[in-house]
Amino acid sequence: MTPHTSPTTSLWMKAPGNASRASLDHDTTADVCIVGAGIAGLTTAWKLVCDGRTVVVLDAGDIAGGESSRTTAQLVNALDTRYTELERLHGASGVRLAAESHTAAIAEIEAICQQEQIACDFTRLDGFLFGTGDEVSALLNSELAAAHRAGLLDVERLPRVPVTSFNSGPCLRFPDQAQIHPTLYLKGLAAAIERRGGRIFTGTHVDAIHGGASALVTTSTGNRVTAGAVVVATNTPINDVLVIHTKQAAYRTYVGGLRIPSGSVARGLYWDTLDPFHYVRLHSEAGSDILIVGGEDHKTGQEGNPTDRFERLTSWARERFPLAQDLVQSWSGQVIQSIDGLAYIGRNPLDEENVYIVTGDSGNGMTHGTLAGILLTDLIQGRPNPWAPLYDPSRITSGAALEFARENVNVATQYATLLTGGDISSAAELLPNQAGILREGLTKTALYRDAEGVLHALDATCPHLGCIVAWNISENTWDCPCHGSRFSPLGKVLNGPAVKGLSRR
Ligand SMILES: Cc1cc2nc3c(=O)[nH]c(=O)nc-3n(C[C@H](O)[C@H](O)[C@H](O)COP(=O)(O)OP(=O)(O)OC[C@H]3O[C@@H](n4cnc5c(N)ncnc54)[C@H](O)[C@@H]3O)c2cc1C
Ligand code: FES
Repeated sequence: MTPHTSPTTSLWMKAPGNASRASLDHDTTADVCIVGAGIAGLTTAWKLVCDGRTVVVLDAGDIAGGESSRTTAQLVNALDTRYTELERLHGASGVRLAAESHTAAIAEIEAICQQEQIACDFTRLDGFLFGTGDEVSALLNSELAAAHRAGLLDVERLPRVPVTSFNSGPCLRFPDQAQIHPTLYLKGLAAAIERRGGRIFTGTHVDAIHGGASALVTTSTGNRVTAGAVVVATNTPINDVLVIHTKQAAYRTYVGGLRIPSGSVARGLYWDTLDPFHYVRLHSEAGSDILIVGGEDHKTGQEGNPTDRFERLTSWARERFPLAQDLVQSWSGQVIQSIDGLAYIGRNPLDEENVYIVTGDSGNGMTHGTLAGILLTDLIQGRPNPWAPLYDPSRITSGAALEFARENVNVATQYATLLTGGDISSAAELLPNQAGILREGLTKTALYRDAEGVLHALDATCPHLGCIVAWNISENTWDCPCHGSRFSPLGKVLNGPAVKGLSRR
């Protein structure tokens, strides 16, 4: 596979339907202001307008222009953090609520598709967890027992997955999972919100959020939304400087779409037990099947050559699915892993009562984002919700102390790069479309030479909390190794928690 020289695009980004709306060019008011038009923000907006609340949604980019357009959109209650681990972390009752809430989220998406007539290929199918090695049989047995204790009584052990091209060995079958075309779903959901009176503004970057009796959301053009409550659904919160970011970490994950003869692989969702694991689904397009394979995750900003990850991913797929043909699309995206395997959904810690966040998708952001819509609407409407304590962003999960320490030591280690040399010794080393970090005395400069040969110099210090960014060769971006902020080659902020871009030198 050749290295990407421009940001990757996913299969879903070319879907028909308008994802842009007017930018906010005036001050306005609403019962609730939602920042972020991905699955979390839009589901919350839809639930609130259905409850009769006035809603304004603001997004810096387009509708579903963030990770919701890069997802593989498997809707599962077979969570990425396995049930044995979730039970250890959250106890018997917590794990039952986790299974219940993700099951409810899948049903919610199905119901929304029916109610709002959204044609997004919603399909119910089985999911299969398989693995190799001596320990896999015992691992599957423990997971089966834990899934049953979590209330998923239909999960069963089978001798192999229903794919003939490789022998998976024993597996667990999770029935009633689902998949969708994510951008078709979210464009349909946005239209439904607007039909019900909600207002959506795209191309509207939010700079500041202040809660309180009259909450205020300020955009970078200075326009303001005054609201009774604010929901920050920016994937990783842009309003929480530190607390949440010590409890989660950003990972890059890679996806390849390979054409494969129609019907040659049984419809299903497939996951192996490796760490990081691989995930597989099918998508039909223009009469042919596309095998979508994802995995090879690593911490954002902490990998020298992501191109190797794409290579390994497609090799893994071709070994198991030898009928796979050309690679029609490949892309990467960002997953936010919480230290205890579940998202943070609820009141923003150490903030006013009426500021809410949803983050820490832990690889299950389509269902976490959907159950966030249900949960946050209940919180805003003053209704009790049994899932609230489990997802409370202020929770302390004692069983996750080791993971908490590990992540924060990792972040502390990244600050050491303030003292090390750069990865180039002079700007003259850079050819067009290349970039590198140059050390000059005590400072570090992020240098990028564009396709025309023009050199762009930026302060390499991340405006969030001061780590040094690293060049991502597969996306042409500057990625921060501490909490996952990402910036365009010219320094524009693409992913939070940073709110501002890299400053020009
Ligand atoms: C490759 C990949 C595969 C995945 N596969 C699955 C899967 O199979 N199943 C699953 O459940 N989950 C999966 N996930 C996770 C899931 O897709 C994401 O967690 C989910 O889409 C995130 O939704 P969101 O609404 O929280 O964030 P996003 O979709 O990222 O939306 C956040 C929005 O906030 C906007 N924003 C950010 N900052 C600002 C600002 N300052 N002002 C205004 N707007 C701002 C962004 O422009 C963006 O549109 C996957 C993720 C990736 C990357
Ligand atoms: S994202 Fe926190 S320091 Fe860069």
